[in-house]
Amino acid sequence: MTSFVLNSRVVQTDQPPGTVLLDFIRLSSGLTGTKEACREGECGACTVLLGCPGSQGLVYRAVASCLLPLGDVQGCHVVTVEGLSEGPLTLVQEMILEHSASQCGFCTPGIVMSLTGFCLASTDFSFQEALDALDGNLCRCTGYVAIRDAARALCERLEGVESDRAVRVATLVELGVLPEGFLEAPSLVGQLQTPEAATTPEGGPPVLVAGGTDLFVQRPEQLREARLEFLSRRRDLDFIRLEDGVLRVGGAVTLESFRLSEVVGRVFPTLRDDLLLHSSTILRNRATLTGNLVNASPVGDVTIMLLALDATLEICTPEGQDRRVRLSEFYRGYKQFDLAPGELITEIRIPQPAPGTRFNFEKVSNREILDIAAVSTAMRLVLAPDGTIEDLRLSAGGVAPVPLFVTGLEPFRGRKPEGETVGLLARHVVEAVSPISDIRGSATYKKLLLGQLVRAHFSAEVLS
Ligand SMILES: Cc1cc2nc3c(=O)[nH]c(=O)nc-3n(C[C@H](O)[C@H](O)[C@H](O)COP(=O)(O)OP(=O)(O)OC[C@H]3O[C@@H](n4cnc5c(N)ncnc54)[C@H](O)[C@@H]3O)c2cc1C
Ligand code: FES
Ligand code: FES
Repeated sequence: MTSFVLNSRVVQTDQPPGTVLLDFIRLSSGLTGTKEACREGECGACTVLLGCPGSQGLVYRAVASCLLPLGDVQGCHVVTVEGLSEGPLTLVQEMILEHSASQCGFCTPGIVMSLTGFCLASTDFSFQEALDALDGNLCRCTGYVAIRDAARALCERLEGVESDRAVRVATLVELGVLPEGFLEAPSLVGQLQTPEAATTPEGGPPVLVAGGTDLFVQRPEQLREARLEFLSRRRDLDFIRLEDGVLRVGGAVTLESFRLSEVVGRVFPTLRDDLLLHSSTILRNRATLTGNLVNASPVGDVTIMLLALDATLEICTPEGQDRRVRLSEFYRGYKQFDLAPGELITEIRIPQPAPGTRFNFEKVSNREILDIAAVSTAMRLVLAPDGTIEDLRLSAGGVAPVPLFVTGLEPFRGRKPEGETVGLLARHVVEAVSPISDIRGSATYKKLLLGQLVRAHFSAEVLS
């Protein structure tokens, strides 16, 4: 049985844990305000709020319900647009109405949920954060000007509001952003039964589900009946800490927690913006770093970044033994890598960069947001006091069957990263790759593009 709170009512269901939440909401609960369109995380029409128990009460995030398995909401509060509509219009809904930000209305519930998620999660209620929160919501008729106007007006109304997380829900209820029912949610969630532990595996290890944003696009039908293990339940895999010069990131950390982490911001200040190029907020709220690594796409954004950052993976075997693999040695061929069935990545270890290290990530895709790269590359550069290259690591995505770690860069050490040296380096990288022509561009185009992106690593802006 899976039990959770859906809006203001406790739900218990024996539907398979791999059932997609969107189907449960619409088909079994009759809550059709949550819309179905792409079923692939691309449009945001199915956005709901997911409130999970945390150290300061329920922590709410906007998520795509079309990629969220039912078993993963066990013990949580799920809020659909109906859950916001128990009384008068909420502040977000009022702003949408006032600024005529809805026409056919198909995208509107998703936009309302994303903006409400912004109110719940934002650090400073800034307009930029509100826009970022909408990066996964497509609208095909209103156009985005009116939606932006509604978002701007919302931020103006929230200006100066106490942003302390501990009292956020109460503050938002007072302001009319959330209905009063939210105040009851923690006690309802507290009454939920804890499910029995999974039984001994039969027929092999369970499928590990992290965010599900790859798995539930690739094989939702098969996963519906499969035995699943939800890594979001594993509190022991949800940590980010800096210890003895190593940034240690648990095997269930989401991209958005990583992106917004204070310690990550301190160690790698540019990652906060770089990671905005990865999917969208409603996906990053669920998608994990480890999922990106194990999906093994040659263009995985996080994978390309972590290759340049010299990450190492801590892996636990089914027998409980630990082993370590350097990410640069992890990939063996297209979608082949050093992880046996039943093995779990428990941790990603990233060395803290030496003072003065430059890190840069470049990605070109057809659309700036919500699109995977045609070509991407990341660089970690350490300069000696005289301005010459002391250490250099480069990775490249979309140009080989694997996420590529570029080798053979030692001869560039001791040289200044300018002029002819950068040209030679770009040529070296381009000669190391073997892209294929596909929907994202011809092989020739990808090589040319990669050469330019490598040069961009050494722009004045990056080197300053
Ligand atoms: C609309 C859309 C846009 C996207 N845009 C981008 C993009 O811009 N850039 C990009 O790189 N990707 C993008 N993706 C792909 C996807 O979001 C990422 O690859 C994401 O990081 C996958 O993480 P997850 O937690 O959702 O993985 P899941 O789907 O949960 O898992 C993926 C694989 O990893 C395995 N796994 C997960 N965690 C572990 C672990 N700890 N140990 C062992 N195995 C594990 C799972 O068993 C599964 O095989 C996009 C996806 C969608 C649907
Ligand atoms: S239906 Fe499009 S994101 Fe879920
Ligand atoms: S109002 Fe029609 S899709 Fe947005």
